Amino acid sequence: MKTVEKSSSLVLILSLVVLLICMKSCHGHSHVRRVLLNNQTDSYAVIFDAGSRVYVFRFSHNLDLLPIDNSLQVYDKIKPELSAYANDPKAAAKSSEPLLLKAESVVPIKLQPDTPVELGVALNYLLRTLGKGYKNTAATIDLGGGSVQMAFALSKENAEKAPLNIDGEKYILQKSLMGANYYLYVHSYLNYGLLAARAEILKISRNSTSSCILKGTNGYYTYGGVAYKASPTPKGSSFRKCRRIVRKALKLNEPCKYQNCTFHGVWNGGGVDGFKTLYISSFFFEMAYWVDIVDPKASSGKAKPIQYLSAAKIACKLKAKEVKSMFPNVDSKDLPYLCMDMLYQFTLLVDGFGLDPYREITLVHDVNYKNNRVEAAWPLGCAIDVVSSSFSRSRISSS
Ligand SMILES: *[C@@H]1O[C@H](CO)[C@@H](O)[C@H](O)[C@H]1NC(C)=O
Ligand SMILES: *[C@@H]1O[C@H](CO)[C@@H](O)[C@H](O)[C@H]1NC(C)=O
Ligand SMILES: *[C@@H]1O[C@H](CO)[C@@H](O)[C@H](O)[C@H]1NC(C)=O
Repeated sequence: MKTVEKSSSLVLILSLVVLLICMKSCHGHSHVRRVLLNNQTDSYAVIFDAGSRVYVFRFSHNLDLLPIDNSLQVYDKIKPELSAYANDPKAAAKSSEPLLLKAESVVPIKLQPDTPVELGVALNYLLRTLGKGYKNTAATIDLGGGSVQMAFALSKENAEKAPLNIDGEKYILQKSLMGANYYLYVHSYLNYGLLAARAEILKISRNSTSSCILKGTNGYYTYGGVAYKASPTPKGSSFRKCRRIVRKALKLNEPCKYQNCTFHGVWNGGGVDGFKTLYISSFFFEMAYWVDIVDPKASSGKAKPIQYLSAAKIACKLKAKEVKSMFPNVDSKDLPYLCMDMLYQFTLLVDGFGLDPYREITLVHDVNYKNNRVEAAWPLGCAIDVVSSSFSRSRISSS
């Protein structure tokens, strides 16, 4: 029975009249190809990432996400290298046939590319704020392993005043999404992701003991092929001293050539603190669960930046063997860095991004959309982008 349903929907996809095929790379993913199949009723956005995976999303005429075989997102590994189809979207769409058949065995895979725009687009789409005024949209900060990324929509006036960054690139992107025009501030801070930041923090101790490492541990932390000594001072970790080191690692005092900067001399785009809703994700969510700020089974939870500081105050006083009883969810490989990680997240949000320590933020893992938990990840954002831009184009051409 299941197979019958599956192949019938497959036939539907393959028999779609291809009225519009659009293929270009998604923002920030030079290797991502996307194909739009459109039969005037439904649209299928097929997103191929760097030759290894394919995602298929189905949208209604009013851009509601619709299920394919009871699932709002279908994805799988792609066998022949994508490059073979780079200039042949029809063949690319056909090649997804075996993939869609296999889609039952969906395994959660940590998505590699990190793009703030697509994540922000996906999240706001799922929250149903996309297509409304920029003030109704949610700002996002995503803490990955290598980088931390910020994205939010801003007013036309502010966008027009936007400077270029140090490399002469634009901070602002203009996009038409769900019928609304947006100016998006986007910045990715390379080396400020949680795992990269540990290395930056340990670097400050020049391969000697660190006041950020918990007593009762001893070893090296390896990041990017380099080993950094990760051993405590004889007194063990210190909240006060580690906080100073973390602030230094964040380069808060780097010269700012704009009116206001976050850190490392980056323009703040007007800042996210003014946003009514701010969603923070990835490591922010995972670590919050380690220290009981959020329920791991929930898709999201409300919190305040100060809670990371409170967790740090406790963590920095602990010895390694005390962590297991205090915070049993912490993985043993991450245990030496608990004081540092908690201080880093607080310092990043408050001293870095300028948030009021007591403002409400939402820690998000996924979003409930039509009773499905959908992850706000880049492939969906990419799909919405391609569907939205084709809709605005067809409206223009038909008028
Ligand atoms: C478009 O596809 C949907 C299902 O994907 C189908 O129900 C609909 O009849 C098709 N419309 C046209 C005009 O072919
Ligand atoms: C720290 O010391 C270890 C052991 O001597 C060495 O292997 C490593 O390369 C050093 N790391 C740095 C960043 O100097
Ligand atoms: C710059 O930051 C200051 C202090 O946080 C704030 O009062 C001011 O409104 C900000 N200005 C802009 C344009 O972001």
